[in-house]
Amino acid sequence: MSSATRTYYVTTPIYYVNDSPHIGHAYTSLACDVLARFLRLDGYKVHFLTGTDEHGQKVEKAAAAAGRDPKLFTDEVSQRFRDLAVLMDYSNDDFIRTTEPRHITSCQHLWNAIKANGHIYLGKYAGWYSVRDEAFYAEDELRPGPNNQKIAPSGAPVEWVEEPSYFFDLSKWQDRLLKFYDENPDFIAPESRRNEVVSFVKNGLQDLSVSRTSFKWGVPVPNDPAHIMYVWLDALTNYITAAGYPETDSPMYRTFWPAALHMVGKDIVRFHAVYWPAFLMAAGVAPPRRVFAHGWWTNEGQKISKSLGNVIDPIQLVEKYGLDQVRYFLLREVPFGNDGDFSHTAMVRRSNADLANDYGNLVQRVLSMINRNCAAKVPANGALNDKDRAFIGQTDVVLRDMRTHVQRQEFHLALDRHAEVVAAANRYVDEQAPWTLKKTDPARMEAVLYTLAETIRRLAVLSQPFMPRASARILDQLTVPASTRDFAIAFGPAAALSPGTELPAPNPIFPRYVETAA
Ligand code: MSP
Repeated sequence: MSSATRTYYVTTPIYYVNDSPHIGHAYTSLACDVLARFLRLDGYKVHFLTGTDEHGQKVEKAAAAAGRDPKLFTDEVSQRFRDLAVLMDYSNDDFIRTTEPRHITSCQHLWNAIKANGHIYLGKYAGWYSVRDEAFYAEDELRPGPNNQKIAPSGAPVEWVEEPSYFFDLSKWQDRLLKFYDENPDFIAPESRRNEVVSFVKNGLQDLSVSRTSFKWGVPVPNDPAHIMYVWLDALTNYITAAGYPETDSPMYRTFWPAALHMVGKDIVRFHAVYWPAFLMAAGVAPPRRVFAHGWWTNEGQKISKSLGNVIDPIQLVEKYGLDQVRYFLLREVPFGNDGDFSHTAMVRRSNADLANDYGNLVQRVLSMINRNCAAKVPANGALNDKDRAFIGQTDVVLRDMRTHVQRQEFHLALDRHAEVVAAANRYVDEQAPWTLKKTDPARMEAVLYTLAETIRRLAVLSQPFMPRASARILDQLTVPASTRDFAIAFGPAAALSPGTELPAPNPIFPRYVETAA
């Protein structure tokens, strides 16, 4: 396949606009952003989608509680998610809102396609519903809670609902779904989530209520507007809306659907890995290629919740520690897929140890030595020996390894590989001691500093997806043109630093975080 034909459509979940964004939302989108940036630099045509989930009872209730009209309320809260994308430097290509006309059209079209194929019928729903999860639950999934209430597995309260409803014939999809999982072993990751989904489906599926009649805030069912589409059917459809559905002949749709990856949190795997492929197959639309479910963050050991008052605000985090530091921490601290704990101590430790002391210090000491000892010019490389060349060359292998890790959503392992070279380069500085060579062997000093500067250039190219701003500053300090920062060019022979090029005075990249008295 030629590089021009490689495409990748990556999506975040669309966020409920009942409340302001918090670290959990920032995390899911960050992972997608790193993936999108990495693949663009690697020659892919990427489409990165995020957006907001604006219908349903949960949002309707939040608007009512705020004394606001739902449309105006969702306009305002949705904007906060757009602002977050700017703050976090997400490179999304589109931002979808489920209240947009393009999406209403798409939902109704999908509904009609499923119905025309005989998979939707009218009935009456009598059962448990959780507004917080926007999910239906069977009796045996619930446990007793306080005041004789029943509680969903997520801890959310449920209420009894009885109303006319359309149903999707999910019970008939068990075998087809199991066959689909079997034929597509990479469809759900990590493995633990895959096992969970397979056993859920093996236990048998019940038909799913896909419309509600007791409230209005949603997409009307075609030809029966007393019914509002179930908010998850509405929400999941965003992924094809943004790919141009129902224009299935459009270049956009043909290029990007089926999506390469839906990134989600572990709480919403069932919707994405069971309901969504069933809806799509029922409509005759190809299912996405992969769903990756990441873990959840706690705050200093506690579950994050509004009622506990311990919600972590990404804006405050970025103000306090710096954007690239936060981006790095979130993806480096915890193996992607596992749960993680946010703590001030861990954040400061990571930032100071890995960024200020290791990566930042490497850049600063090498560029300062070049500034002082090589007349602020890229050093000569005539005296490079095999060891120097091999040292630079190890980054070719690191690019390959990082590529594999990122493709598998192993962001922590990609960063590990990067950190290994940073550590090796710091050792190289100490071993080669270029400062002692200035008088004894200036040509050798230049070769050592050239080796290090060239390694730093490659490290900065590789860290761009994770820490775009800091990496750009390092590349600027090496006067690397913007046009030579993608992987194919940056790792090609023509991009190597050119001896004699004048360099600006170095500036520290990652400041040490120092505790200030309250
Ligand atoms: N609206 C639905 C998704 C519809 S997608 C078709 C929804 N929205 S949400 O706003 O509640 O959550 C969005 C994402 O944030 C989920 O992937 C969820 O897992 C993630 N997180 C919410 N809290 C989290 C943590 N404490 N930690 C990590 N991620 C968490 O679900």
